Amino acid sequence: MNDAMSAGIHRLWKDTFIRRMSPPPGTKLLDVAGGTGDIAYRFLNFQDQINDDSTSSVHLVDINPQMLEQGKIRFANSQWNLDNRLSFGIGNAEKLETIESNSVDFYTIAFGIRNCTNPQKVIDEAYRVLKPGGRFMCLEFSKVDNPLIGAAYDIFSFKIIPELGQLIANDRESYQYLVESIRQFPDQKTFASMIRKAGFATVGDGYENLTFGVAAIHSGYKV
Ligand SMILES: C[S@@+](CC[C@H](N)C(=O)[O-])C[C@H]1O[C@@H](n2cnc3c(N)ncnc32)[C@H](O)[C@@H]1O
Repeated sequence: MNDAMSAGIHRLWKDTFIRRMSPPPGTKLLDVAGGTGDIAYRFLNFQDQINDDSTSSVHLVDINPQMLEQGKIRFANSQWNLDNRLSFGIGNAEKLETIESNSVDFYTIAFGIRNCTNPQKVIDEAYRVLKPGGRFMCLEFSKVDNPLIGAAYDIFSFKIIPELGQLIANDRESYQYLVESIRQFPDQKTFASMIRKAGFATVGDGYENLTFGVAAIHSGYKV
């Protein structure tokens, strides 16, 4: 469904997300709401291919055990799994009980925070677990900044996405919820101010729009 809804563009957004992250060798990443590991995969691949680094690791946390099981199957035969560079844990982004304070270099959350009851709690928790100097990065659907493109995007969202959901996944309601939850999520500037409220320092506005703001990357540093 992700591919059908975005014509595969979500893959490019995730690639851009990792390039913006540009993690140095030896990075310890916590990927929250990591699902089946799209971000973990790209991160480890980037470290292997670009940094020639085999010392970075990722711990993937998700609230849904079935998602984690799919992730484990996906990586079961990978070198990263055999090298113990990838681990999985069940957890709620709002209270990461198994993660120590000041323990990770990077914290990522991609298309996950919108589903959480209290996004501010999620950001506060990210601040707690990051080491000083560590970086919070979020990839999420956001608000389109061009009225003309926004109008077309609204038609696509409300008329076509629920139909695709019905056709491909036999589930109109979940995709109706998806488009509504995107509209309810704070806009770029409001979300950036929530990141600053948690204590993070942002560079410039603290965000970068992707595809006219259909999605955005937000980022902040724990100073
Ligand atoms: C759309 S998927 C995104 C998965 C992955 N990050 C990606 O970009 O492909 C959203 C994920 O958020 C997880 N999730 C929802 N609420 C959560 C919470 N409170 N804590 C942790 N994970 C959560 C879901 O189980 C799901 O795996």
